Amino acid sequence: MKMPVEIVDPLPVLAIVAETPADVAAREALLDRAMGPMRRKKSSEKLRRGRRPSEGLAFVMRDAAGAVTGTVRLWDVRLGEGGPAALLLGPLAVDPSLKNAGIGSALMRHALAEAARLGHAAILLVGDAPYYGRFGFSANKTGSLAMPGPYERHRLLALELVEGTLDGAHGTLKAAGRKLKALPLTFAA
Ligand SMILES: CC(C)(COP(=O)(O)OP(=O)(O)OC[C@H]1O[C@@H](n2cnc3c(N)ncnc32)[C@H](O)[C@@H]1OP(=O)(O)O)[C@@H](O)C(=O)NCCC(=O)NCCS
Repeated sequence: MKMPVEIVDPLPVLAIVAETPADVAAREALLDRAMGPMRRKKSSEKLRRGRRPSEGLAFVMRDAAGAVTGTVRLWDVRLGEGGPAALLLGPLAVDPSLKNAGIGSALMRHALAEAARLGHAAILLVGDAPYYGRFGFSANKTGSLAMPGPYERHRLLALELVEGTLDGAHGTLKAAGRKLKALPLTFAA
């Protein structure tokens, strides 16, 4: 008699998936390892605090065991008072033990493709031009834009997904994302 053969697909070594609430603790620990505690003082944080990432635009990279090895999220912002809608990308981080293995680039390519697919017109970030330049980001059109807090002007970079979105854009970036729901108050008996 022939025995049934069970075919088990091998797990992918790494996979980019949508972040879930169960990933939050691991993502925060990864960000602390990769960026240190000062990360919370960045002016980008002002645009993220109390908000949820843009719908469908929070990703983690998992290894074969399911551990979070990379993270990237994008946030809804407005470019100046009444200005066009755009996304703010960040933080992007990779587990320090896995640097330079292509994880950051894979997360970037996935995030940009999903943002374009969802119809977003432009993405901004504060980061190193030598790294983000390879994905098309530059400071060419951010000269009249500003972050709501201290930042290095030459590190404010942008990528247009729809050509011309940033023409004439000016002013300080404003948070425009969905607000986090307040946690229900619990009272001690
Ligand atoms: C920056 C970071 C996300 C890159 O991810 P990664 O998976 O290590 O990078 P990748 O494997 O995709 O790319 C590696 C390439 O990027 C280059 N690179 C990495 N960080 C760079 C930086 N800050 N500036 C310029 N180049 C950089 C590497 O030298 C390498 O170049 P090569 O392709 O010519 O060899 C990651 O190193 C990280 O988490 N750093 C700490 C957190 C951080 O700084 N986040 C970005 C905030 S701006």
